[in-house]
This record gives sequence, structure tokens and C-alpha cells, in this order.
Amino acid sequence: MAKIKIVKFGDETLRKVCRPVDEITPRICTLLDDMIETMRDAGGCGLAAPQVGVLRRIAVIEVEEGKVYELINPKIIAFSGEQREQEGCLSNPGAYGITKRPKRVTVRATDRHGNVYDLEGEDLLARAICHECDHLDGKLYTDVEIKEIKD
Ligand code: NI
Repeated sequence: MAKIKIVKFGDETLRKVCRPVDEITPRICTLLDDMIETMRDAGGCGLAAPQVGVLRRIAVIEVEEGKVYELINPKIIAFSGEQREQEGCLSNPGAYGITKRPKRVTVRATDRHGNVYDLEGEDLLARAICHECDHLDGKLYTDVEIKEIKD
């Protein structure tokens, strides 16, 4: 496994719409491994492929230690409620904002073995799902931020 450099806000890569994955190759699996290592090393709870310079619809999430979700071609299929909580991004280290997100989200994605699964998330997991899916469409949390936090 290898750590990858994280692209920072201001880089055009983060504004691109990512292409779907049509075949899960060994290269995609290596990318997933590297993204998980990079996310953990940076102390984050989610990372999307464009953040490591890869314009494919892939993200990883770990809001609970040891419970990693790999999302290939994720699509939010249901959401409900509302939450206004603090959110940050590994591409914008040290900064946070308050965003308005659904309280509960269901995402349908594929794992590295090609299994399609539904993941239901509430609170932090729901925020992480929305945040990472947004990345794949070139959207950043600052686009949905309702209040900037300055320390
Ligand atoms: Ni992010």
C-alpha cells in the first residue's frame, strides 16, 4: 500500500465530474487500498478519488474505526430529515464549516468484489456519504456551507 498526495482546494481536479467505473480491475483495488491508507494517515473519515487526482467514481468512508466502506459508483437513493453540523475536508486542512445535510441517507454502491449493496447512514455517516458523493460531481462542502467557522 502507498500513501498518495491529497489534492488541495483551488485545484481544478476537484471541480471535475468523475467517470463511472465499468470494470473493477486490480488497479482499482490498489487504488482503494491506497485511498484507505491515505485517509487514515491524514486522520480523515472519508476520501474521494478526485482528491488523489483520479477522476473516477470511487470513495472510501470510515467514520467508525475499523469499519471501512468502499463505494464504487455510489448513488444516493433515499434521504430524509435534516442536520446542521460541522464539516471539513482533507483537501482543506484545518478549516470547517456548518453545512445543511439530510439526517439519514441511503446510498447504493458496489464494493471491490462487484457486490452491489445499500448503506444506510445517520448523522456523521450520512454527512460523510453526502460529502464524498458530492466530490464525485466536483462539488465541495463549501458549496453547501451555511456558516463558516473561523478559529
Ligand atoms: Ni472532502
